[in-house]
Amino acid sequence: MDEKLIPEDLRKAYSAQEILKIEKQHIVPAVTHYYETPVLFVKGEGATLEDATGKKYVDLFAGICTSITGYAHPKFVATLQWQIEQLIYTSSLYATIPYAVLSKRLAEIAPKGLTQSFIVNSGSEANEAAVYMARKFKNNPYIVACSHAYHGRTTLTRELSTAGWRTVPEPHPAGVRFQPFGYCYRCVFGKEYPDCDIQCARYLRELIRTQTNKAIAAFIVEPIQGVAGIIQPPPEFFQITHEIVKEFGGLFISDEVQTGFGRTGHKWWGIEHSGVSPDIITMAKGFGSGVPIGGFLTRPEYASEYTTTDSFATFGGNPLSCAAAVAVIDIIQESNYLQRAAENGAYLKKQLLALKDDHKIVGDVRGQGMMQGIELVKNQQTKEPATQEMLKVMEICRDEGVLIGKGGIDGNAIRIQPPLELTKEQIDKGYAVLDKAFTIVEKNL
Ligand SMILES: Cc1ncc(COP(=O)(O)O)c(C=O)c1O
Repeated sequence: MDEKLIPEDLRKAYSAQEILKIEKQHIVPAVTHYYETPVLFVKGEGATLEDATGKKYVDLFAGICTSITGYAHPKFVATLQWQIEQLIYTSSLYATIPYAVLSKRLAEIAPKGLTQSFIVNSGSEANEAAVYMARKFKNNPYIVACSHAYHGRTTLTRELSTAGWRTVPEPHPAGVRFQPFGYCYRCVFGKEYPDCDIQCARYLRELIRTQTNKAIAAFIVEPIQGVAGIIQPPPEFFQITHEIVKEFGGLFISDEVQTGFGRTGHKWWGIEHSGVSPDIITMAKGFGSGVPIGGFLTRPEYASEYTTTDSFATFGGNPLSCAAAVAVIDIIQESNYLQRAAENGAYLKKQLLALKDDHKIVGDVRGQGMMQGIELVKNQQTKEPATQEMLKVMEICRDEGVLIGKGGIDGNAIRIQPPLELTKEQIDKGYAVLDKAFTIVEKNL
């Protein structure tokens, strides 16, 4: 490649300080970074990122649960280069090979019967579209979402989200109702699993009977809540809520933006572990492994009423993003990522449980596959969230070359959602660094 063709401004060797200065001058404060002194990444390979000083990091967060095939995967890079040279863009007003091929490949890996796809640019847009379709199909405005949920930041999806992101006072959103999620560590009913009889899930019947016209358009739920701090309810939660949703005529939407594409191990989709058959799944993040793409999959009967004027996106289904997503599916299949996520997930779980045994700051360990979390508390009995300690743990990990994510309403949950390329050696490094960080931070508890 003739590097001289690349804009000189992009090729300059900037320092982190220089870039942060430009950002401060020209980017709105809504764009914030992790760490007291933010890091500037310039390159990546596998599950390793490199900053502008050449320092390398084991990436346990994949951006935000996104770079599922890791960085610079040869097949991914080659596919993008090839597609850019063929045709980078035309709209879905014209047929293109990548959109058609992607829809066929998605139908092959989808939960049974979900053969129809609609492709957009992000998870928020995917959820917007899915909810619109459900409301139209059922001719009913009511959507039930869960406590601690995160479904995006567009106007509607922000209203469906309860993960603590509302910063301006808003009226109660029209047509949206909220159901407790199965957050066993902090059960709102003060019960313990399994003696609780999954009361949180059963509450849905009371909610629909008393807060709607006894019918709903849809129930939207994450199989494992991500932004909320990797909260995984017992599998019965989904079986019971699904049964109630069907009793009241609603569609079951599984938001697989984080749990999709093999992240939870063994299965393509997180909801499949519960045995529940969703009506719609929404997807983004790992779908394009970093190239912007989102979408939903649904059954033909619901899709048949989602017609020309119902939706459109200029970039939705563009050839480049669709080609990237086809490469992602290929790589997941060829590299046996589903199996790998399950095996590495079991290995990781053992280490996280060992950390729980050794450290009083670890309140809870949860999740599965390559989607696991640790909730940090100041006190095991009171469960007071260790919010400031979490920030210190992040700083220590970063200094030691390990990147972790942060979640939870109180910002006290570590999120581990790495590229599925992650190796056992990298898991070992993550364990050793977390062990060190907890030991340091615990001294001041
Ligand atoms: C479960 C879930 N749904 C939807 C979204 C929104 O996706 P996006 O940021 O691509 O709009 C997110 C983003 O974090 C998410 O975690």
